Formats: sequence, structure tokens, C-alpha cells
Amino acid sequence: MENSLKKNEEYEVEILDLGINGEGIAKINGQVVFVPFALPGEIVKILIINTKSKIAVGKVIEIIKPSEDRVNPVCPYFKKCGGCALQHLDYNKQLEFKTNLVKNNLKNIGKIEKDINMCVSSQAYQYRNKCSIPVVDINGETIIGMFRENSHKVVPIEKCAICGDYIEKIIKIMQNYIKLNNIQGYNEEKNIGLLRHIVCRKLNNQIIITLVLTKNFLPNSDYLINRFKSEFKNFSLWININKKPTNVILGDEFKLVYGENAQTDIMGLKVSVSPASFMQVNDEIRDKIYNRATEAISSEKIVIDVYSGAGVMTGITSKKSKHSYGLEIVKEAVKDADNLAKINGIKNMTNICGDASITLPKLVEKLDKSCVEIILDPPRKGCSKEVLDAVLKVAPSKIIYISCNSATLARDLKILFEQSNDYEIEEVSPFDMFPQTAHVETMVIIKRK
Ligand SMILES: C[S@@+](CC[C@H](N)C(=O)[O-])C[C@H]1O[C@@H](n2cnc3c(N)ncnc32)[C@H](O)[C@@H]1O
Repeated sequence: MENSLKKNEEYEVEILDLGINGEGIAKINGQVVFVPFALPGEIVKILIINTKSKIAVGKVIEIIKPSEDRVNPVCPYFKKCGGCALQHLDYNKQLEFKTNLVKNNLKNIGKIEKDINMCVSSQAYQYRNKCSIPVVDINGETIIGMFRENSHKVVPIEKCAICGDYIEKIIKIMQNYIKLNNIQGYNEEKNIGLLRHIVCRKLNNQIIITLVLTKNFLPNSDYLINRFKSEFKNFSLWININKKPTNVILGDEFKLVYGENAQTDIMGLKVSVSPASFMQVNDEIRDKIYNRATEAISSEKIVIDVYSGAGVMTGITSKKSKHSYGLEIVKEAVKDADNLAKINGIKNMTNICGDASITLPKLVEKLDKSCVEIILDPPRKGCSKEVLDAVLKVAPSKIIYISCNSATLARDLKILFEQSNDYEIEEVSPFDMFPQTAHVETMVIIKRK
């Protein structure tokens, strides 16, 4: 259908639903219009700001009838910074939205009709234990901020409501450091400037700061160390060198400037975490997911934890399993997983470094196929074909699929169920790993019939 709407036209519309990114959806003469930051049931006046072949985008210029579910956003940068899409929606309604999102993706993409559990709630703000903050050069001025949604433009920020206090303190110190030392932020068009990103992590009471630089040199590092010392009892400072003109945040090389590799406790396990390793961003939800996954696996089976990160789930499941294997591509994360096994005295855990598309098919060739259970926890793009083929080949008695993208989850489940009639879904549980955003984590427990 041709787009009948034109840019800069104004309309009064009723919002009918929320789209997958948390934006309002309206229709004008049958034509779908996405209206960010509008809620179902609201009557709003909009300005058409974008028209593509089949869809249009409208910007709210007046809320004529607000929804009862509308709340005041906590953050002063809401709508400008692309981090959160749902701060204007009551938290319980966010959980309903995420439950429906998962249900609809399973139905529409996966062709799976299944009752699912209500999305498990989290602390609604100050939950993020990690934040990557871009630092850019704008006309000779160095700006610390966040990217606007779908854009490379940076909005200056001084705090972040979903991360909490530690970010505010780090930004303040970095602003002073930049000013005093005349540090140039990154100019992505010209690939010049020293400082590209500030990556901050909070593990229990430890702060890990990684400065992503274009050169292997941090000027006046003593100043920074002393300033961080005055704010945080326990911190480490790293530099990461990334010279490549890409939007991948981290380069391959890390150097410890101060402190030591972070150690924490997760569900009774001592865990060491290098800055290159993946960690779930919400401690409360992470523990709930790990608990449920551990309950779901059967005793005395071989567990293969595919996409295993720093090996936390591999280590936790090893307490119940005959043997747990962790398969992970990032070598620093595999080192962390090996260290986890060592410092916790775990003997029945093996970590394998490499692309799971290669390591999983190789591993399953060697195993006794009658007693394997598999955990899949892939990145947003989901599992590769080779991984799904290898899963079916080993015919595990259980598959526990954990996903931060319910669209690729649904796609992969469709592939699994099309290729085998031997499986059925036991449970679908969404978890609110990312409150205030439109993202949701989902765990699906699948058993062999
Ligand atoms: C969503 S994280 C899950 C990590 C871990 N399960 C946890 O709970 O912390 C996905 C992990 O998959 C890893 N990864 C990405 N592509 C991979 C591949 N092709 N083969 C193996 N691991 C991969 C990433 O480095 C990351 O550690």
C-alpha cells in the first residue's frame, strides 16, 4: 500500500496498541502510524515526521486524553536519550506489555500457541550493573553522553536512573579529568580523538571502570586513580585499546592500570570477571534465572551450557550434574570460567573456547547421548543453524533456552519444532531483566516427550 500520509501533516488519533519497541500504534485511514511515547487508549495530536513505504512515524504534540497508566518519567533525559522507551508507563503495565510481546512473538513468528507465565518483576530503577557511555568530540568540545535512539548523535548526560549513583560519580570525575587534561573525545567520522567510551560495571560493592582509548596511553592516570580512590573503596581501572573505525565498543587489548581482576559471589560461587566477559546486567533477575535453570535440569545428567560467558551457570549447574561443559567464544571469559572452576574446587566442569557452531557439533560426537541436557543462552541474533542441528542430533532430554530477544527465540523454536516432533514446551517465563526499556529476557523449558 502506498503511504497516503505526508510529512508535517497534523492529525488527532487514538492509540490502539503498543509496538515491539514500546511505541504507540495508531491508524489513519487504515495506515499504521508509530507514535513513540504514546500509550494505548490515549487521544493525541501528532505531527507526521517520517513516512516510509508502508509505515509512518508521528510525534506527539499534545496529549488530549491521557491514559490512566501514564506516570511521570524519573529521568530528565527521557525521550532524548535512546536508553529507555517505557518510563512513562506504569511498571505493572510494562510487565503486561512484555508478557504479551513474548506471547505474540511465539505465536506470530514461532507458530507456537502456549499459555505463558506473567513476566517476573525486578527493582524498577537503579538495577543496571553495567553501562557503556560514549565520549565524543563535537566541534572541539568533549561530550560524555548517550546515543539518541537509532542515531549517532550524543545527548550529554550526568546520571542514569536505571544504573544508579555509581554512574553519576564516575561521570563527574571523568568530566573534571577531561577538562584538566584537555582530553579529546572520539570523532567517528575522522577516527581521531583519544577517549571513545567509559565502560562502568558494578559487581556487588566493586566498581570496574574501563576507558576505551584509541592509543595505548592514559595521560595523568595518577589523577584519575586518586579521584576514584576518594569515591570508591574498591575499584579497578582498565584501559582498552580500540583503534578500529567501527561501532564495536571494545577492542581486543586490555591493560590493568589500577586494582585487580574483580571477584564476586554469585549464588555461593566465587566468580572472577574480566572486563571483556559478559555478565547479566541485572543481579536480581540473573539470580532468579540461574535458580530456575538449575531447578529445571535433572540430577546426574551431562549439561552443555552453550554461550556460557564467564561460566557462572556452568559452575552452578555442575553442583547438580554429572559433568557441565561451557562453550564460549571470548577467550577472556573462558579464562574466567577456568578460574571459577579452580577457585571453587569444581572438578566436573570443562570450558571450551571457540565458536559454538564448531565446538558444539564436535563435543556432541564424543558424548553419551542418552544423558545430555542443554542450556542455550545466545546473543540477540539467536542460535546458528549448526548449533540447532547439533542440539537435535544429541537429542537432549531437556533444552533450556534463555534469550534476550523473543523474536529470534521464536524463530529458533520454530526451526527446532519443524525438524523434530519429539519435543514439547513445558514452561515459558519472561523475566524483566531490563525495566523501563522494551527489552525482555525469556526462559523456555523444553522436554523430550
Ligand atoms: C547472552 S550471553 C550469555 C552468557 C552466560 N550464559 C551468562 O549467563 O552470563 C551470550 C554469550 O555468548 C557468547 N557468544 C557469542 N557468539 C558466540 C559463538 N558463536 N559461540 C560461542 N559463544 C558465543 C558471548 O561472548 C556471550 O558471552
